[in-house]
Amino acid sequence: SHRIMLGPLVAAIDQGTSSTRFLVFNSKTAELLSHHQVEIKQSFPKEGWVEEDPKEILQSVYECMERTCEKLTQLNIDISNIKAIGVTNQRETTLVWDKETGEPLYNAIVWLDLRTQSTVERLINKTPGRNKNHLKHKTGLPISTYFSAVKLRWLMDNVEQVHEAVVSHRAMFGTVDSWLIWCLTGGKSGGVHCTDVTNASRTMLFNIHTMDWDPELCKYFGIPMEILPRVRSSSEIYGLMKSGALSGIPISGCLGDQSAALVGQMCFQDGQAKNTYGTGCFLLRNTGAKPVMSDHGLLTTVAYKLGRDKPACYALEGSVAIAGAVVRWLQDNLGIIGSSEELEKLAASVGTSYGCYFVPAFSGLYAPYWEPSARGIICGLTQFTNKSHLAFSALEAVCFQTREILDAMNQDSGIPLTQLQVDGGMTSNRLLMQLQADILCIPVVKPSMPETTALGAAMAAGAAEGVSVWSLSPEDLSEVTSEKFEPQINPEESEFRYARWKKAVEKSMNWET
Ligand code: G3P
Repeated sequence: SHRIMLGPLVAAIDQGTSSTRFLVFNSKTAELLSHHQVEIKQSFPKEGWVEEDPKEILQSVYECMERTCEKLTQLNIDISNIKAIGVTNQRETTLVWDKETGEPLYNAIVWLDLRTQSTVERLINKTPGRNKNHLKHKTGLPISTYFSAVKLRWLMDNVEQVHEAVVSHRAMFGTVDSWLIWCLTGGKSGGVHCTDVTNASRTMLFNIHTMDWDPELCKYFGIPMEILPRVRSSSEIYGLMKSGALSGIPISGCLGDQSAALVGQMCFQDGQAKNTYGTGCFLLRNTGAKPVMSDHGLLTTVAYKLGRDKPACYALEGSVAIAGAVVRWLQDNLGIIGSSEELEKLAASVGTSYGCYFVPAFSGLYAPYWEPSARGIICGLTQFTNKSHLAFSALEAVCFQTREILDAMNQDSGIPLTQLQVDGGMTSNRLLMQLQADILCIPVVKPSMPETTALGAAMAAGAAEGVSVWSLSPEDLSEVTSEKFEPQINPEESEFRYARWKKAVEKSMNWET
């Protein structure tokens, strides 16, 4: 029956912090036809440092593409029907490579990495009034370890090969999207060095009003502009696949993963929002054609620009560094669970944290605090506390962090969200979804097709090739099946727990003093 319905196919590379995926959709129905996923290794060479291997990232993309094509062939689907490929990626993660050899000059410094903490503190101390928002009027961002500029500066100052390549005009900088597009379109023999406006807006070198690299910002961070990729819209043909089974197919969509999820969730109207639970957790609210500056610790970011001549849309964003990462930590560092499914079972077996609060401030605290010196704490322990309570408190932490950014979002916009659209890997955890509704006191709505990030990138790619993924008529939208979690505890109970959480957060920020 598939084959009868098949229209042109659109595909997406989804390169996240923890894994890489390649996914192929039927443009007529937005149905996911096949996909493949590969985990990505993270290394922690020193406390607070997080790195990934650029070549492993690239290899994982090729592997996912090949395996997905094999699966499609087995399903009797002709891969020549794939008309466009979109790229969506973990944002801010910073790479430098040599354009002549094509070799990366250091590992990718992952967005979560804290090695630039002292640089960030020094930069903030030098601003008038020690103002971390000193560059916000141009960038929409606070000065933080999170964004690319300080990571790139670190690479230039600390890695001899990077320094040499910059001086001899052989260096190329990019976030993961740029690295992948450059390699996939030919690398050292003619690869295209570009990024899109959404990824550029996370570097701290990009002016979100002029929509271009900002010479003053580049000077401030000491970054030579010639190493930067060209900034393009999120939907246009960047280049063609140079090799492999998909050789010749245009790469025509590019969005940071959180922007792509906003598109994939069809949040095209001013005021629409989504929350994605991945390694971190990111709540974005579309603010339409104008950038809105937050008074409550949120970021202003470019949401998307779906075509060269299309207007840019902006979003307010609440970023939480640690969501899925806390599950991985319980598994890899403490060994109290063997899988994420086990975490859900363990937590469900007690159904309460028994007064235990876990603030996983492993990379400092992001929104709304932007406090790089915060560190994780677990408090409220008694003789009675066991690993099930700890598991529960880890899930609750994800929900409380979302509550904090939702509150900030509501205060900034003045119009409270009446329900929360969610997606991402952790949304398969039903206990988490119920807890989230309980702690927010509003319904949580999850689409039946969870791969909204990839769908958004595939839609952007299709649009540039004249393939519209699904006609976005209201009838179609109402056909989207989704699951709704209604709050089940009373608001007083919820407020009580949230107040305790806030106390724990205080301690995570002040435990040193
Ligand atoms: O800003 C970082 C974000 O893009 C990473 O997303 O899904 O890998 O947690 P994810």
